[in-house]
Order: sequence, then structure tokens, then C-alpha cells
Amino acid sequence: MTQALRFVLIQLSAIVLSATIVGLVRWPAIIWAVLVAGMSFMASLRWHDGKWWRYIHLVFPFVVLLALFLPVDPLWYLAALVLSWMLFGGVLRNRVPLYLSNTQALERLAEQVPQGARLLDLGAGTGTVLAWFVYHRPDVQADGIEFSWLPWLFGRLRLARSSAGWLHGDAFAADLAAYDVVYAYLSPEPMSLLWEKAQKEMRPGSLLISNSFDIPNAPPARVCDIGDWKGSRLLVWKI
Ligand SMILES: C[S@@+](CC[C@H](N)C(=O)[O-])C[C@H]1O[C@@H](n2cnc3c(N)ncnc32)[C@H](O)[C@@H]1O
Repeated sequence: MTQALRFVLIQLSAIVLSATIVGLVRWPAIIWAVLVAGMSFMASLRWHDGKWWRYIHLVFPFVVLLALFLPVDPLWYLAALVLSWMLFGGVLRNRVPLYLSNTQALERLAEQVPQGARLLDLGAGTGTVLAWFVYHRPDVQADGIEFSWLPWLFGRLRLARSSAGWLHGDAFAADLAAYDVVYAYLSPEPMSLLWEKAQKEMRPGSLLISNSFDIPNAPPARVCDIGDWKGSRLLVWKI
């Protein structure tokens, strides 16, 4: 069951239980929110694997309550939903959200990329990696592929006048054979599949580099500390 579905189920059960209790004794809405937050927090300790979900459960009922009291036109909520869908809709499909490589990660990545190499950013977000390489490492031919429409469009505009290749589509349908370096900043979810694909398609001697996420049962050839506040690492596999 996906994390999002778990979230909905936990919140709904907590709402039904709390509504029953509050309905019986007619407490004010804030008590309702405290009950839902408490119950869903407790349930998420067991049902969700990431710690952050607990705090989302804890805060969510209060945010809903606040939103109900604010004089905001409901169309704004619809607009926010559509915008979130365009930015993060892909998460429901593959559990890879949008977050961007920071400058330290890009500097460490550049140290691994040979002179004149062809680089592919798999799941290229808004084109941050490519824009950095175009500016700092013009010797590298950098391409990127992204399937969420809004980040892709942003990247399209950002890279319009550059030599970077900017593709829209599924990274797992891209052919990796032409690349000397494939960079992936995804999530734990697709890493095994990526490893299978890299082994099938990438040329011997080429590099697969993951920002932060390991491949189960495939120890990397090198690990470089990025040196940021998250303690992130670049993991490098030589094919
Ligand atoms: C964590 S972001 C990394 C963005 C960029 N590579 C960077 O380092 O700044 C991951 C991106 O991969 C995209 N993505 C995930 N799975 C994908 C797939 N199968 N095909 C194309 N894009 C994908 C997501 O939409 C998201 O924008």
C-alpha cells in the first residue's frame, strides 16, 4: 500500500473515531483536531516508515481547522491542488519527489566526470544539474530527462539557449548506452531497477553516480562525502 494511501486511511479512521467521541459529548472543534492529530500520530508510529509522516499527521488536522476559518476562496485550494499535481504528481507513480542537487553535490559530481564526457541526468527536475555543467564544465555534453510537466517546462525555458539536451519522458525508457556518466538523484524505490538497467545498457568503464541512495546488494566502487548539512554522499559505480 502506498504511503499516501496509508496517510488517507489513518486520517479517515482518526476522523471517524474522533467525530464519534466529539459528537457524543459536543466538544469544540479544537478538541476534535487534538483527538484526530493524537490518534493519527499514534497510528503512524506503526504504519509509516518515515519519521516525517508522524509530524505530518500531527500537524494536518490543525492546518485543516485553520483553513476552515480563513476567508479563502475555495478556488485557491483547487489551484494549489493542480499546481502540486503538476509538480509532484509523478510521486504517486514512482515515489520520487522533486528536490534539487545543491552546489556542493554538483562540485563533487564534477570531480567524478571525465573531461569531454557525455553525462545524463536521469530525472532531471528543473535542469539544475545541466545548467551548472553548462556554466562550469562546458567540456561536458550534458543531457537530462524529466517526466513531470512543470519542472520540465521550467528546465526547457532555463536551458533554451544552451547546448544541453533536454528531453521529456520516462527516464527508464531512455537508452543509457551513449553516456559516459549517468547521474541519478531519485529515491530508494527505483534503485534496484536502475541498477538492472545500467548493467544491461551502460558501456564497460562508464560511471553510474547516485546522490544519496544506495543500490541494495551492489556496493559502490567509491563513496564521496558531499559535505552538506544533511551528510549526503555521492555513490559511484563503475560498470
Ligand atoms: C530528486 S529530483 C532530482 C532533480 C535533479 N536531478 C537534481 O539533481 O537537481 C528527481 C526528479 O526525477 C523525476 N523522475 C522520477 N522518476 C522519473 C522517471 N522515471 N522519468 C523521468 N523523470 C523522473 C522527478 O519528477 C523529479 O523531478
